[in-house]
Amino acid sequence: MGTGYTETQLRAAVADAVRAPSLHNTQPWRFRLRDGGIEVSVDPARRLPATDPSGWGTRVSGGAALFNLRLSLAVAGTPATVRLRPYPADPDVLARLVPELPRRPTPTEQGLYAAIGRRFSNRAPFWPDPVPAEARWRLGEAARAEQCWLELVIGVSAVNAFAEIARSAHRVLERDPAYRAERADWVRTEPAPDGVPARAGGPQSEPQDLLPSRGFGGLDRAPGRDFEPEPLVAVLGAAGNTVVDQVLAGQALQRVLLTATDAGLAVSMLSQPIEVSGAREALRLSLGRFGTPQMVMRIGYGQPGVATPRRSVDEVLDVAVAPG
Ligand SMILES: Cc1cc2nc3c(=O)[nH]c(=O)nc-3n(C[C@H](O)[C@H](O)[C@H](O)COP(=O)(O)O)c2cc1C
Repeated sequence: MGTGYTETQLRAAVADAVRAPSLHNTQPWRFRLRDGGIEVSVDPARRLPATDPSGWGTRVSGGAALFNLRLSLAVAGTPATVRLRPYPADPDVLARLVPELPRRPTPTEQGLYAAIGRRFSNRAPFWPDPVPAEARWRLGEAARAEQCWLELVIGVSAVNAFAEIARSAHRVLERDPAYRAERADWVRTEPAPDGVPARAGGPQSEPQDLLPSRGFGGLDRAPGRDFEPEPLVAVLGAAGNTVVDQVLAGQALQRVLLTATDAGLAVSMLSQPIEVSGAREALRLSLGRFGTPQMVMRIGYGQPGVATPRRSVDEVLDVAVAPG
């Protein structure tokens, strides 16, 4: 294809891209059309300095948005060839997408695309029903299709060992007043285009909880409404921890989340053990894996999640630079 993407195509795809998850719903992404290609960048102004000093979360979030963008373009019949980190001198540009030969979307693409608007983080307790083997296999395939791995933490002792790592990471983070202040800044009790609405924040945590919850100031807990005793915990990892690995992990994350949604599963994310480097290393060792854990998910069956707001397409578009 000699011609590039149009602004109409860009806008339609960005409307889907922004439905992606992001750390504290900061939506740290920007999109622009340049020489017929769509470029996805992180928005450094939306990085969380205390929670995410390295910018890992902005790149995982940006990768998740990139996955939605790819799906949206493919389902519109205008799939893209993607180059990650196209300008070595500008690491904030995560990807550049140019049109490849038009083709019909595959049934998998259509199924995942249909799940974009039904995917929400679900921080509530799940039902005790186990996730069937077929669905577990599909989740692993989703990660592998995006050059990442997904390790399921199986068995009571493995889940308890993971929980110990996660709780200790949580305690380390909670000791930092700047981290707590940042989280409080992104909890929303009034309508807002970003941040985590308190009603989506999940229930208040209680001492008997196995896994730590981020504490977005959620709802009171109904008596007896405990978390599932044996949650299905999945660790998503990449080959390494470069900028490109983190963008790949973001794409794989979104593919796993959409695959889960398509299979009727609910997911919540917990990244405390990723954000504390000692915990991340302990997690890697406990899995006996090479590469770098990039995200942890709790997966199960639950009530429908709560939608969170997004900024408008206009707010995340950069106006094209006129060709010189
Ligand atoms: C990199 C990253 C890290 C996240 N970490 C957590 C976490 O530790 N705890 C949590 O409850 N949610 C976590 N989330 C989920 C976000 O808070 C959520 O995606 C955002 O609020 C938007 O809501 P939605 O997923 O329902 O669209 C994380 C998301 C991303 C992309």
